[in-house]
Amino acid sequence: MLAKKPPMGFNTWNTFAENINEDVIKEIADAMVEKGLLDAGYEYLVIDDCWSEKQRDPETGKIIPDHIKFPNGMKAVSDYVHSKGLKFGMYSCAGTRTCADYPGSFDHEFLDAETFAEYGADFLKYDYCYRPAHHHGDLLYRKMGMALKACGREILFSACNWGCDDVHKWIRSTGAHMYRSTGDIVDNFKSMKDICFSQFENLAFSAPGCWNDIDMLTVGMFGKGNVGSTGSTAVDYKTEFAIWCMYSAPLMLGGDIRTFDDEMMKLVTNKDLIRINQDEEGRPAFVTDSHIVCNIQGETVYTASRDDKKVFVKLLSDNEIAVLFANFSDDDRKVDFFFEDAGIPVASGYGLDMREVFTGEKLGVQKDMLTRRIPAHGCECYICTLSK
Ligand code: GLA
Repeated sequence: MLAKKPPMGFNTWNTFAENINEDVIKEIADAMVEKGLLDAGYEYLVIDDCWSEKQRDPETGKIIPDHIKFPNGMKAVSDYVHSKGLKFGMYSCAGTRTCADYPGSFDHEFLDAETFAEYGADFLKYDYCYRPAHHHGDLLYRKMGMALKACGREILFSACNWGCDDVHKWIRSTGAHMYRSTGDIVDNFKSMKDICFSQFENLAFSAPGCWNDIDMLTVGMFGKGNVGSTGSTAVDYKTEFAIWCMYSAPLMLGGDIRTFDDEMMKLVTNKDLIRINQDEEGRPAFVTDSHIVCNIQGETVYTASRDDKKVFVKLLSDNEIAVLFANFSDDDRKVDFFFEDAGIPVASGYGLDMREVFTGEKLGVQKDMLTRRIPAHGCECYICTLSK
């Protein structure tokens, strides 16, 4: 089974956009191995948009790799990536053109899936630009899902329609293994926060076999690359990575891993955070400050508030529980966690034995409630066990 756990890897878009070529891909592959990312679980190296010629081959109808960027063809690149023990990912689009205006797979789904299989691809990201208006997303993704099943190779299907058309309601049935639920991330704290807050109601639409993908990480970009803006700080990136882990989101690095410093390397290879992300039960996190917003025809609807102080809880296997205190505001704040909101009543006598995952600090058994002072944009993340 593919995507039993949230897929992990690297994608070229955030840093390189159209500036990709064989040498860059080889350097990234080398860095993934040499810097210990493969050992930490990052196994897919995905080439995003802008890899092909602007037109298909007029005789065969096939998409052809850009002959300047990839002079030895895509199989040679894929062979190199595989020789490093990594898996190889390609990109196409459900519309007539890709988002950056290269040939899309509309009406060529089966041929393109065969082509990707010939390259030795293990992963296909499938975008949503230039979709003919009368074709519904579910049918377009179903077609590529079928084409991938027919192509003779096991290829992880990564759908990317930005959360449009109520995608969470149908995407699992198309065969997709992950699906983008948000628009494109920008390298700043506000963009990350907006993405995080946009998914409170969709956290449960993510499970082994098909995961809610909240976009490639901007961790470590510091304003460099293709998703511009001012960049974030190391504190911001720590919170971003912790949220992706709590959300069981695919961990696709988008920063230039060749230049990551020790602090960023330590962050993206943090064993406890990756353990939270990769937990085999794949349970969604919940936000503790959810409250009743309305009562529609007898049905009570809960939603999380827009408050900047958040506590997320995610049940893990082996009776462990992950708790994230996050402060999305621009000032230091006290963040309260009432254990009752996580389902641990005072009367039960139980508390949580808590260990912080960035510092290793052990708080011992805490009961009833815990307040942490969290710096602006910061977080603390705990792995806990229930204890009397
Ligand atoms: C869309 C996707 C991005 C990236 C670009 C490439 O915007 O959402 O992740 O793949 O297309 O053009």
